[in-house]
Amino acid sequence: MNPWRVRKAQPADARGIAQAYVDTWRAAYPGILPDRVMIGLSVDRQASDWRRQIERGGQRDGVLVAEAERTVIGFSSFGPAAAGAHVGEIHTLYVLTDWQEQGVGRALLTQAFEALAGAGFGSAHIWVLADNPSRFFYEAMGGKRGVERDEQLWGAALREYAYGWSDLAVWLTERART
Ligand SMILES: CC(C)(COP(=O)(O)OP(=O)(O)OC[C@H]1O[C@@H](n2cnc3c(N)ncnc32)[C@H](O)[C@@H]1OP(=O)(O)O)[C@@H](O)C(=O)NCCC(=O)NCCS
Repeated sequence: MNPWRVRKAQPADARGIAQAYVDTWRAAYPGILPDRVMIGLSVDRQASDWRRQIERGGQRDGVLVAEAERTVIGFSSFGPAAAGAHVGEIHTLYVLTDWQEQGVGRALLTQAFEALAGAGFGSAHIWVLADNPSRFFYEAMGGKRGVERDEQLWGAALREYAYGWSDLAVWLTERART
């Protein structure tokens, strides 16, 4: 297995993140999201969105990449759940198919939680599509399923579950090294 590491994203990572975003969406969401969403994904558009997000930076949010041999193999973005919120949110977390089940997702989640805790967030959650089997990863990571919502996305009502971690400091102490 090739060595990999997780680090803070730089603007030069934007294209690698964009490619990983498009690849993981097209692998994970057929049958869950409309086909036209997968067809319409654009690496160029994603790259400029991610570049802007990384350059904007911020005290309370951030983007991480997992890389192997200078290639982005996973990424995560996080920040306040809403403007001014005291609860943190994992906005995105994706690992390339070939790199799944090797601890990359856990490492990205752990470093995102460390950054959120360091920015003063005591708790955090993530919204996951109910039909996405990857949601069981968050259960494996100790997230507790909480409220649900129906998001109107691409003309369809999509059910989402929130998975929550009520005490990041305790989670980081107890779970990060398991
Ligand atoms: C979900 C995802 C981020 C997990 O990343 P990963 O690198 O494969 O996960 P890890 O290897 O770090 O797994 C850590 C633990 O969770 C478990 N796990 C991983 N995916 C799981 C799943 N879908 N269901 C149940 N458990 C899972 C692993 O078996 C491992 O367990 P262990 O501690 O007993 O060994 C990744 O599979 C992914 O990107 N999936 C597709 C995209 C997606 O839907 N992302 C979520 C959007 S919200």
